[in-house]
Amino acid sequence: MELRADRGYLTTTAYADDRYLRDRLSLYEHQQPRIDLRQEVLSSLGPVEGKTVVDVGCGNGAYLGALAEAGASAIGLDLSRGMLEAVASPTAGLVVADVQSLPLSTGSADAALAMHMLYHVPDPGLAVGELRRVLRPGGKLVTAVGGSRHLAECNELWLPLLREAGLDVELADLGLLNGRLPVARLEELLRQHFAEVHLRMLSSTVVLTDPGPLLRHAASTTAATTSERQGVDLVRRLGESVAEIISSRGEFRLTTEVALFQASAVAP
Ligand SMILES: C[S@@+](CC[C@H](N)C(=O)[O-])C[C@H]1O[C@@H](n2cnc3c(N)ncnc32)[C@H](O)[C@@H]1O
Repeated sequence: MELRADRGYLTTTAYADDRYLRDRLSLYEHQQPRIDLRQEVLSSLGPVEGKTVVDVGCGNGAYLGALAEAGASAIGLDLSRGMLEAVASPTAGLVVADVQSLPLSTGSADAALAMHMLYHVPDPGLAVGELRRVLRPGGKLVTAVGGSRHLAECNELWLPLLREAGLDVELADLGLLNGRLPVARLEELLRQHFAEVHLRMLSSTVVLTDPGPLLRHAASTTAATTSERQGVDLVRRLGESVAEIISSRGEFRLTTEVALFQASAVAP
């Protein structure tokens, strides 16, 4: 199995704590125009005041804070205890759980989030079925994965470096984008379980005048963390290529793409 869906790797390395996630997210401080994903998620959910919202694969709680501020009773669930320990916002509960087998009663939630997490799941179809099961009739799921062009300009530099180094990891583990669950496949799975599915592609650009934020992102990926010594060398070589581009063009521009889905359990 690819490391990116391996429970042991996810809980002891990639998401042992929220360090790597924070490193990756800091890249988007350079996004122009900036996409406020929390706001996009809240508007996809509609009014949540007084509603029970489960955030599955909640990570360090980026959405839990926004949900609490909007008056929801928000419960965070994640495979990694270390991630839940990093949640700072008030919640109605934090639970270590696998999205493929949720410890929640059928029909108990008004809404569910599964943001940037379904690509880590061994059986995403089972996970989507579980998310549907815990929603009440009329409940909503909001879920997102990266689009196929997400950070493509960097992958074009990064992937050849990794292949040259002969890294012993499967291809889906290599890139800066987790490609285990393409947008079209996620849409298909959602349509199998939900009556209505809407997709919005949110695209923007990260503009860098210094390679640092991108190198922190690359250093947090599976390819770099599987071999610390090799990882350091790969990131250094990526840095040289990016620095060259910045010195010739004045900046390095990277496409960002988020596929944001809203799925309703039954038609209104
Ligand atoms: C990329 S982070 C996203 C965190 C948060 N949703 C966000 O968008 O900021 C992926 C999260 O999914 C969690 N995760 C991975 N596999 C999971 C599973 N099978 N069930 C529940 N959570 C899982 C990881 O521990 C990690 O916290």
